[in-house]
Amino acid sequence: MKVLVIGAGNMGLTYAEAMSKSKLLKKRNLMILDSSPEKILSLKKISHFDVFEKLEDCLPKADLIFIAVKPYHSEELFAKIKTMANPGQIVISIMAGVTISTMQESMGIPKVVRAMPNLPAQIGKGVTSYTASAEVSRIELLTIENLLDTTGKSIYVSSENFIDASTGISGSGPAYVFYFMQSMMEAALKMGFSANDSKVLVSKTFEGAVDLFNQSDLSPNSWMDRVASKGGTTRAALDSMEDNNVKELIKEAAYSAFNRAVELGEEK
Ligand SMILES: NC(=O)c1ccc[n+]([C@@H]2O[C@H](COP(=O)([O-])OP(=O)(O)OC[C@H]3O[C@@H](n4cnc5c(N)ncnc54)[C@H](OP(=O)(O)O)[C@@H]3O)[C@@H](O)[C@H]2O)c1
Repeated sequence: MKVLVIGAGNMGLTYAEAMSKSKLLKKRNLMILDSSPEKILSLKKISHFDVFEKLEDCLPKADLIFIAVKPYHSEELFAKIKTMANPGQIVISIMAGVTISTMQESMGIPKVVRAMPNLPAQIGKGVTSYTASAEVSRIELLTIENLLDTTGKSIYVSSENFIDASTGISGSGPAYVFYFMQSMMEAALKMGFSANDSKVLVSKTFEGAVDLFNQSDLSPNSWMDRVASKGGTTRAALDSMEDNNVKELIKEAAYSAFNRAVELGEEK
């Protein structure tokens, strides 16, 4: 199997690096294409995969085409792909808001997978939701899942609606966690801790809580009950959050991202 990654930006390079290190691809079966001459030059110096600057030199050789350009570049790219694609090729797109039917029509390729990764993919700890057109076989889906798993964990969802929904949870989610971290760091600074101590206190608290959660079957509610005792300090903080409706506000924020993802798809 030969894979072509189009777009050597943050995400494209992340996936190219991860896939090329996996046992799924034999050496030099990973091609990468970018439109920026400077990027191509620097990639050629460091890359252990084949780097291309022209679509016609690499697209016909690819079994799997992984598209990682910004959505506003997609129309022009699709039109070019259409002139040289064959219907047996498989497209995986991580572009936000670009629907499967748009891609099928614009590229003349029936087999399309739409995926939504998140930023921790850069360190192999991402989570990617994905779905596919009916033309993609179960065996092909298994291979694709294994490729997506090279950047963390992937989850198959039954429809594109869940891709937009996961944008509101895992896609945008790292920013919600950073928001919470920033708030706690600001509180620590106000209490008199140094910037470095605030950072360590907050980041280790997040890391430890997530590790605890992952090592048990307990729900977050049960863990909260274990930390908080009646009349104690943690209960005072949790009561303050409940009184201020923080949980509802977080849910509302996640829905705002979900709705925006749907809107962006409709604008295309
Ligand atoms: N970053 C995230 O956390 C995240 C999460 C989920 C989904 N995504 C999706 O991932 C996609 C890529 O995001 P990114 O942050 O990696 O973008 P990026 O850093 O801007 O990378 C895109 C790269 O593609 C190149 N490019 C543009 N048109 C091209 C063409 N026709 N042929 C070959 N290369 C082309 C760009 O070159 P120029 O710079 O010269 O234009 C750039 O190097 C986006 O569609 C985004 O919606 C990103």
